[in-house]
Amino acid sequence: MPAVSTTLQLTDKAPGSLAVAVLVVAIEPGKPGPALRQGHGLSSKAGKTIEEHLAAVGAEASLGEVTQVGPVAGVKAERVVAVGVGKPAKDTRGSQRPDDTERYRRAAGSATRSLAGSSDAAVAFGDLDEDALTAVAQGSVLGAYAYQEFFGEGKKASAKAPLGSVTLLGLKARSSEGKKLVAQVSALTSAVNYARDLVNMPPNALFPQSFAESVARNAKKTKVTVDVWDPQRLHDEGCGGILGVGQGSARAPRLVTMKYAPSKPVAHLAFVGKGITFDSGGLCLKPAASMVTMKCDMGGAAAVAAAIFAIEAMGLPIAVTGYLCLAENMTGDLAQRPGDVVTMRGGKTVEIINTDAEGRLVMADGLALASESKPDAIIDIATLTGAAVVALGERTLGIMSNDQALTGRAHASATLAGEPAWPLPMLEEIRSTMDSPVADLKHTGERSAGAMVAATFLAEFVGNGADGEQLPWAHLDIAGPAFNDKAPFGYTPKGGTGAGVRALVELAQSYTLA
Ligand code: BES
Ligand code: MN
Ligand code: ZN
Repeated sequence: MPAVSTTLQLTDKAPGSLAVAVLVVAIEPGKPGPALRQGHGLSSKAGKTIEEHLAAVGAEASLGEVTQVGPVAGVKAERVVAVGVGKPAKDTRGSQRPDDTERYRRAAGSATRSLAGSSDAAVAFGDLDEDALTAVAQGSVLGAYAYQEFFGEGKKASAKAPLGSVTLLGLKARSSEGKKLVAQVSALTSAVNYARDLVNMPPNALFPQSFAESVARNAKKTKVTVDVWDPQRLHDEGCGGILGVGQGSARAPRLVTMKYAPSKPVAHLAFVGKGITFDSGGLCLKPAASMVTMKCDMGGAAAVAAAIFAIEAMGLPIAVTGYLCLAENMTGDLAQRPGDVVTMRGGKTVEIINTDAEGRLVMADGLALASESKPDAIIDIATLTGAAVVALGERTLGIMSNDQALTGRAHASATLAGEPAWPLPMLEEIRSTMDSPVADLKHTGERSAGAMVAATFLAEFVGNGADGEQLPWAHLDIAGPAFNDKAPFGYTPKGGTGAGVRALVELAQSYTLA
């Protein structure tokens, strides 16, 4: 699925006996100096050599600190690298320090990210429960990711390729738990890396049609079925939101429906993703500096596609239908104008105010469509508002929902997956600020609380269930975490992060545990 992904396997051999380029060991702060974690499996002599070296170079074993130890007598690997896992999290005064599982995930990622150019590594973190070991496996593969598809020949030849393969210690390789861990982690991480690839692809290469083709191509070897609506079909189906946003671009819009329907599903979920392959702002043009990263504006749709592929590959007994709302927001001579009125799927009319608030327009059609099959819950995910970044920063996704239980489930699932998330309220007073004199509503409202205003608009398009109540719905605003334009950290690379994929998969998985 992704262009390149680090391979993962388990071994039962002792860490000192492995003929790999690098042996990664985990270290904790200790007295007098850093100490290897319990159960490292090295000889006491080799362990002592490593700890002495760490003390001599002043290593602290803080979370993500990577120390080159070099060759060690009695260790077959060409060199040893030590990564700090920091101190256990004490959740005092409501602090949001990462939990232990996430610390191991991040530490593993920092280590493998530093190993670009190496062929293979063994990762020996010592004694861990299965959740933590799973996190180490995930972090190892995710941290090794790098996007090099568009390097020229010269740069490609000289660039360090991502670490090729990870061999993990800690579970019997041939046990059913071991096999399951490798299969589940490989499914999830290659999905996350696929989402990253989609976000990183330049917008002249990834546009609605090529996005749809990529999804259809990937679905071929799976049980996921894909249906693509072109502009004619979108017109026939009354999807005025997607068409309106897309009409300013020569790259025509698409709506992609993905279906995974296992036998005897325990729940049916609908995922809706914002897929603006480039957001120029439209006629309400963005300033140049704000446009630079706007290829990331399809991160929600990428997360939906990737999550569904992961759920299928993991064989979860959950039926999932995904709606990818794909359009390019441009300024062509047919571009949507402020003052236009468009009719959305389901018949509601919307007065266009600011063409840069395009995401909620394409999502409206997706939400209306998703509601028609009356799923147990609708989750939408979108790089929707700069206001979400102002409110929550670049690493936390915002949750807005009409259902307390679903808010709790989404929050718990994202946190468990290692994706920081936080709920935001949607006060009902917001709605009247979107009253329009010419249409059912306008798509912007009061200026403050922009993330909640956008969510309030989306809520208008969530339909009712069989009981006549609005379907349970949660909206995830990933405008902050979808794209990392700063330095890489932990298992998060520069560029596309794959934000939301793990949260969506974890959320689906939560229905299997209930
Ligand atoms: N795609 C942007 C939101 C965004 C901002 C995503 C920063 C990622 C990083 C969205 O389409 C947008 O432009 N929103 C406007 C809405 C406004 C015009 C009401 C915004 O947030 O400024
Ligand atoms: Mn916009
Ligand atoms: Zn946008």
